[in-house]
Amino acid sequence: SHLAIVLWVFSYLLGSVSSAILVCRLFGFPDPRSTGSHNPGATNVLRVGNKFAAAITLSGDVAKGMVPVWVARQVGAPESIAAFCGFCAFLGHLYPVYFDFRGGKGVATALGVMVFLHWPSTLVVIGIWLLVAASTRISSMASVTSFLLAPIIVLLLKPELFHPVLVLSLMLLFRHRHNIMQLFKGQEQRFGTPASPAP
Ligand code: G3P
Repeated sequence: SHLAIVLWVFSYLLGSVSSAILVCRLFGFPDPRSTGSHNPGATNVLRVGNKFAAAITLSGDVAKGMVPVWVARQVGAPESIAAFCGFCAFLGHLYPVYFDFRGGKGVATALGVMVFLHWPSTLVVIGIWLLVAASTRISSMASVTSFLLAPIIVLLLKPELFHPVLVLSLMLLFRHRHNIMQLFKGQEQRFGTPASPAP
């Protein structure tokens, strides 16, 4: 229907708004796309800025995933349309129309989408992220591990969401391909390592 298309476009445009870039501009930090890992995400804002700015970035990117799903439900869209709204927001975050289609890696936005689709499995994914982050002190290790497991967790707890979450996770892992290579080489940075100039 027309309503579905309007919702999807709205979701993509909202997802395209990069919290990291805006927060860094607001705080006068260097552009996250040209410093540290070059990624416009909360982890890199922590590197080039501080914890407070990173927390706002994280909240903004999570909200971008939640809002489209919530709005779709409010206007009475069926669950499949609402879920696809979430996917459009995720797509916007990865490939933002306002920023040359060069966006982030999707961890926060994926969690925002998933929490409204099925919060129990989302809590498990967040739990794994926190556990791996606490033990390895490497953000990308936590992201890669938790989203390798996300499809399996959803398969066990909410099987009808398996395919959407599989697609989301595969795209997210693809966006982490450089991180994955660095992890294998043992060269991925830990929390607390200041941003070094462009690799
Ligand atoms: O969500 C992004 C995180 O998993 C890795 O970020 O900046 O270390 O590439 P970064």
